[in-house]
Amino acid sequence: DNKETGAIGKQTGDGDQEKLRGAKYFQDPGFWGFIHRSFTKSMGYTDEDLRKPVIGIANTFSELNKCHSNFNELVDYVKRGVWQAGGLPMEFPTISIGEPYVKPTTMLLRNLMAMDTEEMIKAHPLDGVVLVGGCDKTVPAQLMAAISANVPAIVLTGGPMLNGRLNGQSLGACTDCYKYTLEHKAGNITDKELSTAEDAICRSDGHCMVMGTASTMASIAEALGMALPGCAAIPAPDSRRKHMAERTGKQIVEVVRQNIRPRDVITPKSIENAIRVTMASGGSTNAIIHLVAIAGRLGYKLELETFDKLAADTPFLLNLKPSGKYMMEEYFEAGGVPSLMKELESKLHTDCLTVTGGTVADNLRGVYTINSDVIASLDRPLAEQGGIAVLRGNLSPNGALIKQTAVSPHLKKHRGKAVVFHSPADLEARIDDPDLDVDENSVLVLINAGPKGAPAMPEIGQIPIPQKLLLKGVRDMVRISDARISGTSYGALIVHTAPEAAIGGPLALVRDGDEIELDIEERKLQLHVDDSTLELRRKDWKPAEPAYDRGYGLLFLEHVLQADEGCDFDFLLPKELREARKKGG
Ligand code: FES
Ligand code: MG
Repeated sequence: DNKETGAIGKQTGDGDQEKLRGAKYFQDPGFWGFIHRSFTKSMGYTDEDLRKPVIGIANTFSELNKCHSNFNELVDYVKRGVWQAGGLPMEFPTISIGEPYVKPTTMLLRNLMAMDTEEMIKAHPLDGVVLVGGCDKTVPAQLMAAISANVPAIVLTGGPMLNGRLNGQSLGACTDCYKYTLEHKAGNITDKELSTAEDAICRSDGHCMVMGTASTMASIAEALGMALPGCAAIPAPDSRRKHMAERTGKQIVEVVRQNIRPRDVITPKSIENAIRVTMASGGSTNAIIHLVAIAGRLGYKLELETFDKLAADTPFLLNLKPSGKYMMEEYFEAGGVPSLMKELESKLHTDCLTVTGGTVADNLRGVYTINSDVIASLDRPLAEQGGIAVLRGNLSPNGALIKQTAVSPHLKKHRGKAVVFHSPADLEARIDDPDLDVDENSVLVLINAGPKGAPAMPEIGQIPIPQKLLLKGVRDMVRISDARISGTSYGALIVHTAPEAAIGGPLALVRDGDEIELDIEERKLQLHVDDSTLELRRKDWKPAEPAYDRGYGLLFLEHVLQADEGCDFDFLLPKELREARKKGG
């Protein structure tokens, strides 16, 4: 009898009623029930509260993470919704990762955050959880954790910043951060102008407001069905984000009642929906690593070819920086992710279940696009194909990525001589050297910047244009690395080259002056050096000193998977997938 015990039955579909996780703690008749009730009541909760389903709220507020500066307020609205729906909200912290500060790179900590989040959910009496994330690595970490913990969950993202404004123009973080620093370096703007732009570009709470990694992952959370429709694009300071927070709080109680689990929502089909939304949005290349890691937690290897195949069949629709013109604020006003998904509806798996309790088709009923200059229609797309292409060849036997929508047209097919930088430090030391043997046709190659190399694959694949070429007006060149790029980058940047140089991948064998050929249409990345020469070079190759000899860094180096496998830790994959990997070599 639910009324008497206060426990809401967990519907498993066959009439089987099981007590909720919270009820096991608070309604235990013995010693531990006494402890749990007594200690919890000391915080001001009553017996009545302890009979409600317990909803954890992972609050990743941190003053070290600008993108989450509004989270304490947002969490208050989530709590309001949870109380209204008859739940007991309990806020808890996990680590929080913000792009601008974390050294050597946030990617080092994504898996740590996923572990932290998963273990916090599993260790506590939570019947459901609202995962509040925003900055690039936080939402993927939370999605990975949600799958592994498989306790009912909804993602609430914190929202993008309002558009930066300067001299009547819109500025986007951080696409325009690059532009300003580049023009400053080229001598075209003054120190004062640079400082004014700094003040103007990030003018509110929220994460980066171009279609960078944060906006891409927020869109993916929605496309997967793990966030409520419309959540991704509402600007952080907009009152409607507070409404969204309250609705999310109400809905998680419903998700608990209906016993909808992350693995009911995140499936191979909903992952395909998320890939299509990413491609139609000109989303970040980082999303590929994160989606492969998410699929890995479900127990399957998502092949890079799946991205290429879906990209080829998904038109590019969203006119947002860095590939287009507008930003998240206009996307929100144009209808946001629901409108984009409506345009794509004929290509989506619309039978996927979502945290609304309905399917994608249910959620899209009655949705339309308000501004087709921002969200183009399927029959009049911005480009016939989605953003990201997978390149193969003797330089990238396990794949490399290029965001083709952000490449200067004259570089889409290119052949040039390599200028090799052997590490991030080597790049920094020599790139602006006036004596560097480089011209606009050169191919800049950065090695030892991959998962184990740099380590943790920092976002330095946007190799700077050498200053002497900048001064000549060069703004794009073909650049290749085993690093990542920020989702806000633009240019002919080939990244995620696998296997990486630090484990002896072919990138380690490139020498200055070697010819490299890029052909995006043919999906080709070829080093024009014969195999016997490459074999000789391979004999000379020696691995570099590992970056860590203890602690979490050592754990990372020993267990991180390559880019094409999502950079998760091998031991975090489900057992079946670990065994399949072993058999596959
Ligand atoms: Fe957090 Fe860009 S720095 S989203
Ligand atoms: Mg608070």
